[in-house]
Amino acid sequence: MSKQFPYLSSPIKIGNIQLRNRVVFSAHLTNFAERNLPGERHAYYYGERAKGGAGLIITEELSVHPSDHAYEKLVDAFSAEALPGYRMITGMVHQYGARIFAQLNHNGNQGTGLYNQLAVWGASPVADPLFCEVPKEIDQVEIDELIRFYAKSALLAQEGGFDGVEFQGSHSSLLRQFLSPYTNRRRDGYGGSAEGRIRLLREVGQAVREAVGPDFCLGIRLSGEEFVDQGLTLNDVVDIARSIEGMDLFNYLNTSVGIATHALYLVEGPMCLPPAYAVYMSSAIKQAVKLPVITVGRIKDPHQGEQVLRQGHADLVGMVRAQISDAYFARKSFNGQEELIRGCLSCNQDCIGRVGLNQTIGCVQNPAVGKEKIWGQGMVKPAPRTKQVYVIGGGPAGMQAALAAAQRGHRVSLFEKDHELGGQVRFASRLPYRSEFGDHIRNLLNELKTVPVQVYLGHEIRSEEVAEKSPDAVIVATGSLPQALPVPGCDQKNVLTVLQLLTQDVPLGEKVLIVDQLGFYQATGVAEMLADQGKKVEILSSSLYVGQGLGRTLDLDLWYQRARKKQIVLTPNVSFLGVDGDTVKGIHNYSGQQLLWEHIDHVVLAVPHRANDAFYFSLKGKVRELYRIGDCVAPRRLDAAVSEGFKTGSAL
Ligand SMILES: Cc1cc2nc3c(=O)[nH]c(=O)nc-3n(C[C@H](O)[C@H](O)[C@H](O)COP(=O)(O)O)c2cc1C
Ligand code: SF4
Repeated sequence: MSKQFPYLSSPIKIGNIQLRNRVVFSAHLTNFAERNLPGERHAYYYGERAKGGAGLIITEELSVHPSDHAYEKLVDAFSAEALPGYRMITGMVHQYGARIFAQLNHNGNQGTGLYNQLAVWGASPVADPLFCEVPKEIDQVEIDELIRFYAKSALLAQEGGFDGVEFQGSHSSLLRQFLSPYTNRRRDGYGGSAEGRIRLLREVGQAVREAVGPDFCLGIRLSGEEFVDQGLTLNDVVDIARSIEGMDLFNYLNTSVGIATHALYLVEGPMCLPPAYAVYMSSAIKQAVKLPVITVGRIKDPHQGEQVLRQGHADLVGMVRAQISDAYFARKSFNGQEELIRGCLSCNQDCIGRVGLNQTIGCVQNPAVGKEKIWGQGMVKPAPRTKQVYVIGGGPAGMQAALAAAQRGHRVSLFEKDHELGGQVRFASRLPYRSEFGDHIRNLLNELKTVPVQVYLGHEIRSEEVAEKSPDAVIVATGSLPQALPVPGCDQKNVLTVLQLLTQDVPLGEKVLIVDQLGFYQATGVAEMLADQGKKVEILSSSLYVGQGLGRTLDLDLWYQRARKKQIVLTPNVSFLGVDGDTVKGIHNYSGQQLLWEHIDHVVLAVPHRANDAFYFSLKGKVRELYRIGDCVAPRRLDAAVSEGFKTGSAL
């Protein structure tokens, strides 16, 4: 047990299963499935977190019935073909001392008939607000089949070596749709009253318990509150939790928040929500039942987890993104290496952001996600020969490259012309509600302290000097600079870029127009910052709506709510034509109408950058090995900088 985190590190028994600690890697889809089956990639992914010290792992949702094909890579839990994959996963996880449950689910109306060309199933014909497909109200024959398929899927999970199963009865599930008066309008024995609405869950629970026997662990995940009219309130869910305990079928209760297809930002809270924002829900449930309760929701460092347990709000802590970002979160927490945890930023860019785009899960900070077999801990071997490596540029790409090269045993010198490391991430984290983005630099700085990298700050090394010193390898990570826009007036004194605004002390006038050609935080963050300073702010965007990229990171809803309060004017579908004095010209993308904005004090350009690659080209042919990484290749986001830094540094 860890002295610093005695609650989080203490063992606990769930049913007959002993867990070594209370850190849970709760369910989250990975899109690793091939032919809708689990496989080796899952095994290495979960295995790495088991090796990293997690107490309990719960798989991504596995679908119990062919009528549920909510997205392309959903795993079929009802198929015996899943067994080889299951055995690989459970074998790998058990080998490292963790326990693993399979999450079973049917998404009900929170899905689509696009894949299986069937009507989606629902408690009642109530369309989901995201998918907008009116479901078929399932009849008794289908209910009986669903119950049989739950039992069959649970039995297969047991055969596959899992220690238990968890029903998703939370943010995206048919079981919750039956529990909730918002989606269950039935008049038969499965609706009409709280007792009727819980009947399906009871019958599924009974069938599964009968199939798997008394010793297999059985849990259910509930949304603490639905946050919709006529939906389940926390009081309702506390009553449901009591009824579930009374069934004497389940061994634990897991929790989540809201309805995924209504307000996903409540399920995977972005950094503008407070840490541990959902703990009050598990707390209320825990006060009402004796079953162990798992909490969740932006709990990303061991102190937060410890506090939640010490204060009695839950028995176990779900920390999902914290362990995506650093698979060794638990082990580092309990071994006194807490400062070496690559703490999650709650940026949602590559975990939920990629999965939402039907890509495999990733992490902006952890290039090994989904590639544990080749890049997991211990997979990158020490270099056969020590090289002298120069890294030019100390942004995230350069820092990560220096770290990876030094970890392979090379002698590394890192040159940065500024007096601080961190590159443009430092400026991005100055925007409102974006400060945690800067934690990435703190994480890298802590890790750099563990390797003998020579860091030269305020040192703008010349390419001739590098060529003269003749290191074995040079990695250029000199980043990017704003592009000059080919439109009139951009060289006027009252026009500046986001980077200039954030790095120079430029006093702005009262009326500011932001021209957004990126659709990300550059414009929305600056707009908020200026509105907070009392400016009148308008954003012009050529996109269909302002802040398009914020949908991917689940920041869109909350940013729009704040923008409205701060009276930021949003003008989409307009292309910027130029500036003439204090007048800005634009054109509506579809109608072709010419538009003018007059009496504008300052124009701020959120426009694409260009690679700052002059240094790289000046060294070409002059050193033995020359590489360039990150924005210096092409301006992109943090994930590209970090993964190219890692790949290049660890391949030397
Ligand atoms: C990419 C991603 C996919 C998820 N998929 C599931 C899922 O299949 N089943 C589920 O119950 N929760 C799912 N969740 C929700 C997580 O279990 C968890 O509640 C959420 O990430 C908040 O916890 P955190 O702040 O510790 O990350 C998913 C979360 C993420 C980030
Ligand atoms: S992409 Fe961002 S939110 Fe997701 S796990 Fe990585 S750091 Fe955390």
